[in-house]
Amino acid sequence: MTQALQTILARHQFNPTRLLQILREAQEALTWIAPEYIDTLAAGLGLPRARVEGVAGFYRFLHTDAPCRYRLLFSDNITDRMLGNQDLLTTLCEMLWVERGHISEDGLASVDTTSCTGMCDQGPALLVNGWAIPRLSRERLARIAELILAQAPVETWPRELFAVADNLRRADILLGNPLQPGDALRVALPLGRATLLEEIKHSNLRGRGGAGFATGLKWAACRDAAGDHANARRYVVCNADEGEPGTFKDRVLLSTQADLVFEGMTVCAYAINGSQGFLYLRGEYRYLLAPLNGVLARRREAGLLGRDILGHAGFDFDIEIHLGAGAYVCGEESALIESLEGKRGIPRNRPPYPVSHGYLQCPTTLNNVETFCAAALVAAKGADWYRGIGTVKSAGTKVLSVSGDCARPGIYEYPFGVTVRQVLADCGAENTLAVQISGPSGVCIAADEFDRRIAFEDLATAGAFMVFDRSRDMFEVARNFAHFFAHESCGFCTPCRVGTAMLRSTMDKIAAGHGTLYDLAEIEKLDRVLNQSAHCGLGHTACNPTLDTLKRFRPSYERRLKSLDFEPAFDLDGALAAARRMTGRDDTGAHLSTEIEA
Ligand SMILES: Cc1cc2nc3c(=O)[nH]c(=O)nc-3n(C[C@H](O)[C@H](O)[C@H](O)COP(=O)(O)O)c2cc1C
Ligand code: SF4
Repeated sequence: MTQALQTILARHQFNPTRLLQILREAQEALTWIAPEYIDTLAAGLGLPRARVEGVAGFYRFLHTDAPCRYRLLFSDNITDRMLGNQDLLTTLCEMLWVERGHISEDGLASVDTTSCTGMCDQGPALLVNGWAIPRLSRERLARIAELILAQAPVETWPRELFAVADNLRRADILLGNPLQPGDALRVALPLGRATLLEEIKHSNLRGRGGAGFATGLKWAACRDAAGDHANARRYVVCNADEGEPGTFKDRVLLSTQADLVFEGMTVCAYAINGSQGFLYLRGEYRYLLAPLNGVLARRREAGLLGRDILGHAGFDFDIEIHLGAGAYVCGEESALIESLEGKRGIPRNRPPYPVSHGYLQCPTTLNNVETFCAAALVAAKGADWYRGIGTVKSAGTKVLSVSGDCARPGIYEYPFGVTVRQVLADCGAENTLAVQISGPSGVCIAADEFDRRIAFEDLATAGAFMVFDRSRDMFEVARNFAHFFAHESCGFCTPCRVGTAMLRSTMDKIAAGHGTLYDLAEIEKLDRVLNQSAHCGLGHTACNPTLDTLKRFRPSYERRLKSLDFEPAFDLDGALAAARRMTGRDDTGAHLSTEIEA
């Protein structure tokens, strides 16, 4: 055991910023993170034990409870639910003789749920020891159970079980690009840094990770970071954490356009004078790690990474991939940087922003996978060409991840400005009741809004496009999202930690038929509190799906309410019934309300 840990520590040069990677690898080798491993790792890295324990306890995919040979985590997004994941989970528990959420007594297996795994176009899905298995059915579960009961190592399971399809349905300039590795760099390097940056600014490219910040301005701010940081190393970080339920477009970009992603990062490094890049890959996409490392190796051989890139003296840059371990909040840029530094993924106070105080407090440019792809296209083909596509305010294309009630779920790339109605027609959706744009933290729209457009000036989106037909109950959709936010809140700030838990329990209370109008008013209050006082975007948006569905589909809430009168959530008068019985009183004065119990 100690030897295995020492080998892992040595592979990471006993570097504390590698703590998350070290813990992940230790678990892969030894099946869990035992208390004594934490001691060894803390000593090896020169860190306090509490720091190592804190990190190990923060991430969903790191296990400190007990050894377990096969850990199975069912994806629990609303689209997995619509495809029957709950029944399949129960079936697998029966096949393996395990209780949900517990490790079997012999330490063989555990079965539980996790947040969306990014396989909504081919769900239901699960992870076994971190490896994704999509398209679950009873037959596939029977094979999985057989392999587990025979104690077959996961590496020997049939590869076909792990095959993840791209489901590429509509390609445009990005997914259909004809560029060869190095094409964009061969145009960008002769331009020089300043002209290249002007091109990126002039292209009107805006970030594709959700907030839509102007990419050229971000890069320029990083290049120009002043003060102590003027001479610091500069870093380029690609956000491939993609944790928003219903979003899986980065998965397909990474599997079909890896060269374009890395080319965009290298173009950025040239523009900002960066020397080191990181791609932060969500743990659920573990299966992409080896192919992506293969692409990086090929690029090094081709002189597209490393020293004097493409013979350009002094332009040295390389990229390393870090794997996440199951924490949605790590998609938030400052939490991601904390995680890259080997810490818990707690969002930082901002300002200062990563452009001046990012990785190791050095200037850092952080962009989404799709943004880097688009930047490579701009470098290769020019700003004027790029801004000619899309709308005046939204240049270029948007890659959408379409899932839910439609005949052809998958990846669709459109010029900005496409209507929701067009996307619904293309994906074969019928009788559509609602579309959730940009995942739970986005917006839910109803049929009278389907002529709205995907664009920053109308429906801005990070990519999720979840379709719900008229057989669906939008209250249940919002309830699933309320559970998601409560589960993923990192707990750092009280309004979000408590507020998301209150939202979840209020939705459960309404589902159980105990809600009143008072509860609906409380949700609106909660939203105001979270918006004003939560520390990061997770808390700010946590009430969005509930308020959107309440506004558009109010009857699905009201039919569950105990009373349409405005009653307090806690029935104090009812709670005092026992005291009244004990004192033998039931007169009006013994009641808080005017009604007298029968
Ligand atoms: C809770 C939370 C999760 C996020 N998850 C992601 C993510 O998975 N991928 C992403 O690119 N941006 C995500 N973001 C947005 C990032 O903080 C950041 O704005 C983005 O990566 C910047 O890249 P861009 O300018 O290219 O859009 C998230 C933000 C929040 C608040
Ligand atoms: S808002 Fe929520 S997720 Fe964000 S820092 Fe606070 S507790 Fe963590």
